Amino acid sequence: MKKILLTGCAGFIGSNFLKKIAVIEREYEFVVLDLLVYEGSYSTIENDINDNDHISFVQLDIRNMSEINELFQKEKFCGVIHYAAESHVDASIKNPNIFVETNVVGTLNLLNASLRYGSESFRFCHVSTDEVYGDLSDDEEPFTEMNRIKPSSPYSASKAASDILVESYYKTYGLDCVITRCSNNYGPYQFPEKMIPLMIKNSLKVEKLPVYGTGKNIRDWIFVDDHNKGVWMAFKSGSAGEVYNFGGNTEKQNIEVVKQILNELNQSVDLITFVTDRKGHDWRYAMNYAKASRELGWTPSVDFEEGLRRTIKWYSENVDWLENF
Ligand SMILES: NC(=O)c1ccc[n+]([C@@H]2O[C@H](COP(=O)([O-])OP(=O)(O)OC[C@H]3O[C@@H](n4cnc5c(N)ncnc54)[C@H](O)[C@@H]3O)[C@@H](O)[C@H]2O)c1
Repeated sequence: MKKILLTGCAGFIGSNFLKKIAVIEREYEFVVLDLLVYEGSYSTIENDINDNDHISFVQLDIRNMSEINELFQKEKFCGVIHYAAESHVDASIKNPNIFVETNVVGTLNLLNASLRYGSESFRFCHVSTDEVYGDLSDDEEPFTEMNRIKPSSPYSASKAASDILVESYYKTYGLDCVITRCSNNYGPYQFPEKMIPLMIKNSLKVEKLPVYGTGKNIRDWIFVDDHNKGVWMAFKSGSAGEVYNFGGNTEKQNIEVVKQILNELNQSVDLITFVTDRKGHDWRYAMNYAKASRELGWTPSVDFEEGLRRTIKWYSENVDWLENF
């Protein structure tokens, strides 16, 4: 059976991929690799691993070149879907080095192992972010795949560097690669350092909700399942060497989202407290996903109001998951 390596699937987006896509795609075997650093937890995916013979787990560090090579040599993968990363912008501002080590060197190790040990028909799907394009002013058009790479934070710079490495492996060595770039995700199983789960968590506990700056920064929100559907489509039918943008068609100011969460949970806006803005805080992101629609037949399907309600309901019913991190 064809084996696919899924990296970082104990984390937010990857665990949702595992639960919604990998569990039903039984014509493949999936090997889940994760180091289980603080934002990834084995308990999130334990049942999915135990209940499915076609899914297995290995705890491994993508920075460890020799162990990555050993794994690839043993498993003869037909593809990699690469989610693993250091993903928190604020953490990257405090400690940029680990972002380069994990996101750049870790990706390089996977690319080298793919070249050496990948099966004959092999594909590397690199999961990247809209943040590599930098930010937009209020009147600029949404990013297309043709936009210049112009990252603002050490996080987005490390993702941009890994994107460019992937492109170079396609051009120089002919490694079959696709890159996906997506806007801000929300949904179940997101570690509460990111805005939406943090605001839900604090609202549930009736604690202060810290909002950066004026709260007017704009993000283009997408429900995590829509993103993962796009990743799977790009992996299966995207053209080699291409980049695909995914977005939710839902531009919202942070403060609007925060008020919506408070409203859903019947809490007062008095819980909002404005805090010193993030350094280099990107103003606005918005994605043009016409290429993904045209070439992959992809469109987002979960409307923001519905997705946010589902997300709030999930966190309200899974307080244990939040507490056990
Ligand atoms: N969250 C978003 O809104 C968003 C949007 C677009 C793209 N992305 C990208 O999607 C991917 C997943 O993001 P996420 O939000 O699920 O992140 P996350 O932080 O929730 O998960 C990352 C996972 O990677 C694992 N990991 C970290 N370092 C590792 C290492 N050295 N070796 C092995 N595993 C390691 C962690 O344990 C964790 O399980 C990232 O590449 C991110 O850049 C995220």
